[in-house]
Amino acid sequence: MNKIPVSRPTVTDEMVEAMAEAVRNERMVLGESVFKFEEEFARYTGTKHAISVSSGTDALILALIALNVRGKEVITTPLSFIATANAVVHAGATPVFADASAKDLNLDPAEVRPVRGTAAVMPVHLFGQPARMDELREAAGEKVKIVEDACQAHGAMYKGRKAGSLGDAACFSFYATKNMTVGGDGGMITTDDDRLAADLRKLRDCGRVSRYVHDVFGFTARLNTANAAFGRVQLKHLDEWNERRRAIARRYAEKLKDVPEIVLPPMGSKDIVPVFHLFVIQADDRDALARTLEARNIDTAVHYPVPIHLQPVYKDAFGFSKGSYPESERLADRVLSLPVFPTLTDEEVDRVCEAIIDHYEGKR
Ligand SMILES: Cc1ncc(COP(=O)(O)O)c(C=O)c1O
Repeated sequence: MNKIPVSRPTVTDEMVEAMAEAVRNERMVLGESVFKFEEEFARYTGTKHAISVSSGTDALILALIALNVRGKEVITTPLSFIATANAVVHAGATPVFADASAKDLNLDPAEVRPVRGTAAVMPVHLFGQPARMDELREAAGEKVKIVEDACQAHGAMYKGRKAGSLGDAACFSFYATKNMTVGGDGGMITTDDDRLAADLRKLRDCGRVSRYVHDVFGFTARLNTANAAFGRVQLKHLDEWNERRRAIARRYAEKLKDVPEIVLPPMGSKDIVPVFHLFVIQADDRDALARTLEARNIDTAVHYPVPIHLQPVYKDAFGFSKGSYPESERLADRVLSLPVFPTLTDEEVDRVCEAIIDHYEGKR
């Protein structure tokens, strides 16, 4: 039986040719495709500006620097990819964690308690599930900025608006396995704020105001033209791919609804349209279940087995210990990501479901 991977990027000839054309005909850096991609991405998210950068991590770092968080605190969730919190540190601020909620696995608005030194709250739309933005805005208060970590949520909707348009700024990753990629590393920042957008354009390009004049300490954090050309073709497919991801999620949910040993992810509502970057179930015997699937040639992954505050570098730097964020720690022990990607077939979904059902039937 063929191996089912946990994710698989879609690459077509059109994407590869667009990339080759860009290298042949445009400036390799800040060529025409970069600006077209930015325009199209801004239109897609419904924001005034989109500024492309070299990764999702750089998007987060630059957005936080442009928002002047240095020396202050940024509240975020410990249940995320480590880059979320690393960006806070690299921007010269202190990461302050607030626990995740079992309800949607996202930053729990009830746990967000800003203090005088809080500059920003950074919710993550984890696994493609939009965070509860209205409640988070209320918890943050008016003076505190909200930066969306939308690295896993291209196209997700919250109350009729796209992820990327829900905070003061939002950051996307185009890493290979994301809902859309640029054929390598890449990222994007979206915002409606003109000044912020202008600052970000400088920051990503060595702090340049004009060819030989630099008025801020900038970075080399641009998206390559070839990657932008690839991304433009991917963006055209994003909605159809997200629709397929949702159909896969519905099929999993329907087939697995009578397995009492597992908890299924939230499937969305009138207000929330998730994009299932990952399809994450919860199980007490997560590792044993993963082994059963592995034996049937089905790949799984764990996002994330160690919450950020318990990673060695965070324990050493900030003195966190087990028990600090109990819900995130509990979830980290239970989560298991099943295969989900646009070209996954219904038969493959059924194979995964059968393996899970057999695993538990064998134990009853
Ligand atoms: C939630 C989250 N934040 C940040 C990042 C960082 O993005 P990148 O890998 O493009 O730097 C990722 C993805 O890797 C992510 O999933």
